[in-house]
Amino acid sequence: MSGQRVTIHTLRAAKGRNERITMLTAYDATFARLLDEAGADILLVGDSLGMVVQGHDTTLPVTLDEMIYHCKAVARGARRAQIVGDMPFMTYQESVEVGVRNAGRLIKEGGCHAVKLEGGAQHAELVARLVASGIPVMGHIGLTPQSFHQMGGFRVQGKDAAGAARLVADAEALEAAGAYAIVLEGMPTEVAAEITSSISIPTIGIGAGAGCDGQVLVVYDLLGMDERFKPKFVRRYADVGATIKDACARFIDDVRAGAFPSAAESFSTIGEPAKPMSLYSSGAAK
Ligand code: KIV
Repeated sequence: MSGQRVTIHTLRAAKGRNERITMLTAYDATFARLLDEAGADILLVGDSLGMVVQGHDTTLPVTLDEMIYHCKAVARGARRAQIVGDMPFMTYQESVEVGVRNAGRLIKEGGCHAVKLEGGAQHAELVARLVASGIPVMGHIGLTPQSFHQMGGFRVQGKDAAGAARLVADAEALEAAGAYAIVLEGMPTEVAAEITSSISIPTIGIGAGAGCDGQVLVVYDLLGMDERFKPKFVRRYADVGATIKDACARFIDDVRAGAFPSAAESFSTIGEPAKPMSLYSSGAAK
């Protein structure tokens, strides 16, 4: 894929060329800049932020205003990646009208290029209305975290023939309604591969095996931010949690020992006019 902004058309063409699509979650401008520069095709402002940023046990408490806040920050940080904003729980289930209004806020106020919503055939009418309104929609089927209570916990879906057939039908309904891509989460590899070959829009897997058109991970999990969390489907590419604790412990030791700041890290010339300087690093793309 080129260095230009990734669009729904770029992604469809990638599937046509059998080129793998990469998606990562991002919740702020600094991460957005880093992941964009690393080459991620899509930055998902996932409602997983309710768990990894806000500290909840599920994604259910996240509000639309909170999503918009994080989407704005991510949109400021990225130049190339497509920005997708998650529709939080109960911002689209009530009615098509409510869903259209709330998705519109993620685009208009949050600066997203597309929205993602959980569920299949039951949301086909909403997906069609959004697409007709000019809002690209990414579907999300399989283990859908907003149905935590309905599923009886975070459980792999589609493990029997009827469940697998329902997922294939859901994917086909989303494609027919106009969705441009679908996240396949927590399902057997064979089911995800069957869905991927039965639809012409890209599938992006998480805990769904290697047969998808792309893969997504929650970036905090990939980076090892929480050393207590290592499910089967996550590959940890770094141990950033331990690195952060080590760096901050060294700062604390230095301050307590009077070793920070040094003279070089202090302002010492009295009487010279103050020069402008950088105050904090900024994640926003320059
Ligand atoms: O909220 C999220 O981060 C997600 C991904 C795990 C796909 O929906």
